Amino acid sequence: MKSTGNSAVFRESHRRYRAHLRAARPDPALAALAIAAWRNPDRVVLKRVTRRAVLLVHLDGTPTILKFFKDPPWYLAWRPGWARHAWAAARTMREMGLPMPAVHQFATCNVGGYTSVLTMEAIPHAVTLREWIKKQAPRWDAETRVRWRMTIRAHWMNLLHNGVYHDDIKALNVLVQLPPGAAAPTLWWIDPESAHPGHCPTRFQIIRNLVQLNGSIRKGVTDGERLQFLREMGEDFPWVLHPSIEQRLRTWTHERLLKEKRTRCGP
Ligand SMILES: Nc1ncnc2c1ncn2[C@@H]1O[C@H](COP(=O)(O)OP(=O)(O)OP(=O)(O)O)[C@@H](O)[C@H]1O
Ligand SMILES: [Mg+2]
Repeated sequence: MKSTGNSAVFRESHRRYRAHLRAARPDPALAALAIAAWRNPDRVVLKRVTRRAVLLVHLDGTPTILKFFKDPPWYLAWRPGWARHAWAAARTMREMGLPMPAVHQFATCNVGGYTSVLTMEAIPHAVTLREWIKKQAPRWDAETRVRWRMTIRAHWMNLLHNGVYHDDIKALNVLVQLPPGAAAPTLWWIDPESAHPGHCPTRFQIIRNLVQLNGSIRKGVTDGERLQFLREMGEDFPWVLHPSIEQRLRTWTHERLLKEKRTRCGP
């Protein structure tokens, strides 16, 4: 199998995505529910920036993620918001067995400056990959460190082998779930709006993914391990080992790490 899945895999992934888009129907009841959730003082705001907000709420007692999007007016003029794409992409990924939380409904809305909303399963007992590495990596022995490198690489390659490109694979967009008593953690993707089923990434996009991942893990990983990860990626993408690409990766990763340090928030 080719490293990024063959074209038939991408075609199939695209076909499924289009089918979900065609079947997608906004849920008018969700719009009212989203407004109520937004105004509820007990809501937990996990993230709020101009273009997106993420709330943790309880719907019928079930912890649920409400993700709000601010859509450009031109986009809203002919599509019911970015939430629809996120919904269809997540459904496609779930259908293919990829670890994306289940999505429930989506709707257009008008609250807090946001224009569309999506409900999604909240993954319990989970932290972001960045937090996980920062906390756990100092205790890892050599063997565990190799195992984690392989796990992260497999998590990413699994996407590509299933014909899905994710345009933001930073460590904040991967959740590591470890319920009490579980033998091993499970990795999840989040940010379905950044997933593109059927899009075969260009070399530039692969490089950008590598920089996103590498440049979002500030603590707990040595330079030697970063280099080793790159070498291992060379098994999937031999061209990344070309000296000019390697140099570009180093420069961009360094810039991204600096930006993260400067802004004190996730890249
Ligand atoms: N399905 C989920 N289950 C549990 N926690 C979640 C889920 N989705 C999001 N979160 C939490 O909310 C945080 C922000 O979510 P998310 O990454 O979707 O926001 P975002 O606006 O896309 O941020 P960014 O642009 O930085 O990726 C995550 O880091 C994670 O801690
Ligand atoms: Mg995110």
